[in-house]
Amino acid sequence: MFDELRDLYQEVIFDHNRNPRNFRVMENPDREVEGFNPLCGDKLTLFLKIKDGMIEDASFQGSGCAISTASVSLMTEIIKGKTIEEAEEIFEMFHKMTTGEDGEIDLDAIGKLAVLAGVREYPARVKCATLAWHTLDAALKNKEKSISTE
Ligand code: FES
Repeated sequence: MFDELRDLYQEVIFDHNRNPRNFRVMENPDREVEGFNPLCGDKLTLFLKIKDGMIEDASFQGSGCAISTASVSLMTEIIKGKTIEEAEEIFEMFHKMTTGEDGEIDLDAIGKLAVLAGVREYPARVKCATLAWHTLDAALKNKEKSISTE
């Protein structure tokens, strides 16, 4: 299964890196958080519109490596229409999946994001995949305006 995932992983990452979804500055966002990876200097800004506890819109700006761009692009697609609680659950699952804390990955629960499970094999790239998600976590908690992966 992991061979299949590896091919899919490459394909999805290329696609989202070449053609990132929701790559735009949002007018009047409810949340705006900057995520920074000081190891490489990559930076992104995540924008969210939240109404009645639901993420109505998500977009981002910034420049990063292929994995961080693909990860944030996929993330903005997946969290749209989710409640804050649901998005937090997805963050938890994603975090466990990429850090391998949990051993087994529930691929059904994580859906399309499973393609990023491949980063577990490259510890140096885990932060690339999780940068967007830590930024999301900060935006959902609504406490910090910027986060760093270090
Ligand atoms: Fe900077 Fe991937 S190399 S986030």
